[in-house]
Amino acid sequence: MTLLSTTPRPLIAGNWKMNGLSTALDEARAIAAGLDRRPAAARVAIFPPATLLHRLGEAVEGSFVLVGGQDCHGAASGAHTGDISAQMVADAGGTMVIVGHSERRTDHGETCQQVAGKAQAALAAGLEPIICVGESLEQRQAGEAVSFVIGQLRNSLPDSLAGQAFDVAYEPLWAIGTGHVASVENIVEMHAAIRTELVARFGEQGRATPILYGGSVKPENAREILAAPEVGGALVGGASLKAKDFLAIVEAA
Ligand code: 13P
Repeated sequence: MTLLSTTPRPLIAGNWKMNGLSTALDEARAIAAGLDRRPAAARVAIFPPATLLHRLGEAVEGSFVLVGGQDCHGAASGAHTGDISAQMVADAGGTMVIVGHSERRTDHGETCQQVAGKAQAALAAGLEPIICVGESLEQRQAGEAVSFVIGQLRNSLPDSLAGQAFDVAYEPLWAIGTGHVASVENIVEMHAAIRTELVARFGEQGRATPILYGGSVKPENAREILAAPEVGGALVGGASLKAKDFLAIVEAA
């Protein structure tokens, strides 16, 4: 198997969630400045709240930092108060968008079908979607983690992803914001199952699709996680809010 030539650089993605006022742009500038000192071995992206997307894009312009949205609606426009479309994310300077994050699925009752629609809308707007999946603690304890996540993946990925750039993020719910990072064994098992499903569904393309791990990734554990088989990057929450920590994770890639 000649994976080397097709394996993309790891993606280190910082999901700021509902954090960040204007002053946080300084952290983004510090991240951009930190990357400018050497060629980045990884792709680096920041996903600020929608209110900062445009300004953050301007703040890091000309650097290695990519910017993206944390969510988008499945429709291109319309009467959906409070939502933003994929086209709006692109118009604000984003090139990527996270869809199906567990906090969206939990807080807003998003279904896999809706997530697939969002991923499709992202592609239509020229964005690279990061599609998130992950099991709850109850599902893991019941021994259903892999079957649940693979089912979620199957239903959250639209067929239109074939031939398009996209990423998958595995984020076990019990590891998000808890400091309880999944064991490398758990990560390796799940990423291997996700890889098998991606290859079954998308053939050769599925071999190269980056599979990110997310859930309490910190400078202290990033190296071990990122070195694990089939881990193609990290989706980082809390530790992406401080340039120093985020850059240390990028350094570990
Ligand atoms: P934490 O890194 O804060 O656990 O968040 C992970 C996450 O949900 C990123 O999308």
